[in-house]
Amino acid sequence: MKLQTLKDADLAHKTVLLRVDYNVPLRDGKVADDTRIRQSLPTLKHLIGQNAKIIIMSHLGRPKGEVKEELRLTPVADHLSKLLNAPVIKVESCIGAEVEEAIKSIKNGQVLMLENTRFHAEEKKNDPGFAKKLASYADVYVSDAFGTVHRAHASTEGVAHHLPAYAGFLIEKEIAALSPLLEEPQKPFVLIMGGAKIDTKIGVMKNYLEKADKIIVGGGLANTFLLARGFDVGASLCQKDKIETAREIMLEAEKANCEIVMPQDVIAADEISDDAITADANIRGIEGDMQILDVGEESLKQFIEIVNEAATIIWNGPLGLYEKKPFEKGTREIAWAIKNSSAKSYLGGGDTVDAIKRFEISPDSFTHVSTGGGAMLEFLEGKDLPGLKVLMK
Ligand code: 3PG
Repeated sequence: MKLQTLKDADLAHKTVLLRVDYNVPLRDGKVADDTRIRQSLPTLKHLIGQNAKIIIMSHLGRPKGEVKEELRLTPVADHLSKLLNAPVIKVESCIGAEVEEAIKSIKNGQVLMLENTRFHAEEKKNDPGFAKKLASYADVYVSDAFGTVHRAHASTEGVAHHLPAYAGFLIEKEIAALSPLLEEPQKPFVLIMGGAKIDTKIGVMKNYLEKADKIIVGGGLANTFLLARGFDVGASLCQKDKIETAREIMLEAEKANCEIVMPQDVIAADEISDDAITADANIRGIEGDMQILDVGEESLKQFIEIVNEAATIIWNGPLGLYEKKPFEKGTREIAWAIKNSSAKSYLGGGDTVDAIKRFEISPDSFTHVSTGGGAMLEFLEGKDLPGLKVLMK
């Protein structure tokens, strides 16, 4: 099975249904981070160069099958239009008469953007009728939505059963960059897993227990591990129902000779605010209303030493509540340490990407910054991803 790419496609003067992942953060009705949009430009420019009629599909947020005004793709279409320096025609739905009229009216080389596909419950259900309807608008399907390839939805999977289907340049680039991590990454090989929840990280952690030398855990994820080790985490963010899972991972890690490194001291506070009074406390001292909101000084030093010795690093998820000044240091320092290290470094996840931007570190400082969060993790689990499988022949 081989990924079908744009090289294999005859696109000249065709109508192309292009699935992208423009699930981007919006602030005050404007695009707050356009990384995902910029990353899709090579494919878009190629299609424009082929004089194709381009119909863009994307989801935005999780509107649960209903129209949510704040999740319309209009600001995204406006932003794309500026980046392309060309009009992007935007319709108010992704199927129906208005869409059909708009497709008829666009000329070759023009771009039309459909409305958020998740305004229809059929999208997430991968409803065959809905997928067929979307597919009926075009001659060819191109997916460049790497961030969404782990979802078997109508616009990411269903449509591809009705049209010749190809991967865009972004998907090709992501696969080329991440695939070496499925082989034998150079050692010492370190995973840094942070963020709020353990669920999305379990698979990737398990997959790397045999290969990785160390897995550093931070953020809310670390609190669940600390609980599983028998520590009191006070009022900290954690998943009490996942203690068994954390225990299992620790046991398996021990057998595999992979060290799970968790903070021994933490930055704690009893409120989350920009002027919170914080204390660097030993993990044994946490109780009651105290919340763990960042990694402490001693642990941070240890984490940075591990980073400095690593040859390969995968980082997904912040080490603390980096959006608030008093709790940003752990994430900031680890980001700078990875930037300055000579290791091959692979980053992913919306918060991680947002954090490096906030700390003014260029994505070019790393080997690869993925546009996928969940998709990158599931790819690294070695899973067959539905949105990629349909692009294989
Ligand atoms: C993401 O941001 O990870 C992707 O766009 C997928 O979004 P989802 O988790 O809502 O499916």
